[in-house]
Amino acid sequence: MTPCRFPATVDTLWLDARLATLADQTPYGVIEKGAMAVDEGRIVWLGAVEALPADALNRARSVHRLDHACVTPGLIDCHTHLVHAGNRAREFEMRLNGATYEEIARGGGGIISTVNAVRNASDADLYHQSAGRLKAMLAEGVTAVEIKSGYGLDTPNELKMLRVVRQLDRDFPATVMATFLGAHALPPEYTGRPDAYIDLVVEEMIPAVAADGLATAVDAFCERIAFTLAQTERVFSTARQHGLRVKLHAEQLSDSNGAALAAQFGALSADHLEHLNANGAAAMAAAGTVAVLLPGAFYYLNETRKPPVDLLRSKGVAMAVSTDCNPGTSPTTSPLLMMNMACVSFGLTPAEALAGFTVNAARALGMQARWGTLEVGKQADFAVWDIEEPAELAYRMGGNPCRLTVKGGEIVFRSSSIAGEGCHG
Ligand code: NIG
Ligand code: FE
Repeated sequence: MTPCRFPATVDTLWLDARLATLADQTPYGVIEKGAMAVDEGRIVWLGAVEALPADALNRARSVHRLDHACVTPGLIDCHTHLVHAGNRAREFEMRLNGATYEEIARGGGGIISTVNAVRNASDADLYHQSAGRLKAMLAEGVTAVEIKSGYGLDTPNELKMLRVVRQLDRDFPATVMATFLGAHALPPEYTGRPDAYIDLVVEEMIPAVAADGLATAVDAFCERIAFTLAQTERVFSTARQHGLRVKLHAEQLSDSNGAALAAQFGALSADHLEHLNANGAAAMAAAGTVAVLLPGAFYYLNETRKPPVDLLRSKGVAMAVSTDCNPGTSPTTSPLLMMNMACVSFGLTPAEALAGFTVNAARALGMQARWGTLEVGKQADFAVWDIEEPAELAYRMGGNPCRLTVKGGEIVFRSSSIAGEGCHG
C-alpha cells in the first residue's frame, strides 16, 4: 500500500492496533502496529505507526491508544428481518416434536404467525421490540444493517414496517437500509389467489414504497412454499421500472432457478443458496451478484444440504455472510456466532467469514465505495476488538470481545465494565 500524505490536522488518531483492513487478498489485509487517522468522518491516513510523521500526535485533535487491540471494518449485516413483533418459540417446540418448517408454514403458522403479530402491533411496539435487537447488533461491532419488510403483507402494514425501519435509521448511530419484501409469503386473505396478491404487490405496494422513498431494494421469496419464478419475475420487472435494485431469497429449500433469474436482473445478491446449481452460480458470477450465506437458518432448520461453497469460490462469486435475524428460522442478532457457523457448517475460512460481514456485505448492499474496508477515503466505520488475532472473531462460540464500535469516526458503543474493573478505550 502506498502511504499517503498525512494531513495538516485530523480529528482523531488511533494508535497501536493490529489493523485488519480487508483491503487486499492477503488474509485480512493486516497492518501490524498500525495507526489510522480520521477526519470529518472519513479515514484520511492509515499505515504503520513507524511511518507516521514525527509530529503526527500534535496534528490530531484527539488520540486514542488501542494497546494492540484488533481493528476491523465495521460489521455489515446485509440480510435481516430485524423489524418484527413477537416470537415463535412455540413453533420451535413443535419442530422439536417432529413438525417440519414447511409443514408449520402450510398449516398457517411460520411467516404468517409473525404477520399476525406485526399487523396487531402498534408502530411504537414494533419500533421498541426491534430497537432492542438493533442495539444488540451495535454492541457487536455492527455499523450498517439491512432490514426487510415482509411481515405486513398488505399495503398499510408493509408501509408501517418500512416506516419503523426509517425511524431506526434516524434514531440509531448505524446506517439502516430498507428492503421491500412484499412477496415474502401469501397472506391468508389471498389463499388460492397468489397471482392476485402479486397484482397488489406490483400495482399498489411497489409504487407506494418507491413514491415515499421507503426502500432502496426489492426482495422476494422464490420457493415452493412462497412464489414461483414467473411471479418473482413480475416483482423484479416492476422494481426495475421504479429504479429499485433487486435481491432474492433463492434456492433455500429447493432448486427453483431463482439465482439465475436474479442475476438476469442484475441483482445485488442471491441469498441462502443451499440448492444452487452450476448454471445459477455461473450467472451470478457473470452479473457480479453476491452470494449471501445464512448459516443461522441452515443450523436452526437442521438442514443437511450446504450451499456449494467450492463452486462459488471456483466461479469467483463473492460470498457475504449474514444473520438473517428473524423470528422463525434464525432468531439471532450475533454476527460473530454466524461467522463461527459459516466456518464450521459451510467450510468458510475465518478470513472469508470476516470478509462476508465486511467487504462482501458492502458489495451485497451496493455500498462498496464507502464501506467494508479500512482504506483512505472510506467512511470511518470500524470496530475495536479485545482479541489478539482476527481469526478469533470466528473462532469463539458466543461471547463478545467488542471494545468499541465507531461510526463515522464517533464512538457509538463502548463495552461496559463490570463494577470494580476499569474501562478501556
Ligand atoms: O430468510 N426464507 C424466508 N424468510 C426468512 C424466514 C422468515 C420466517 O420464517 O419468519 C428466512 O429464512
Ligand atoms: Fe431471510
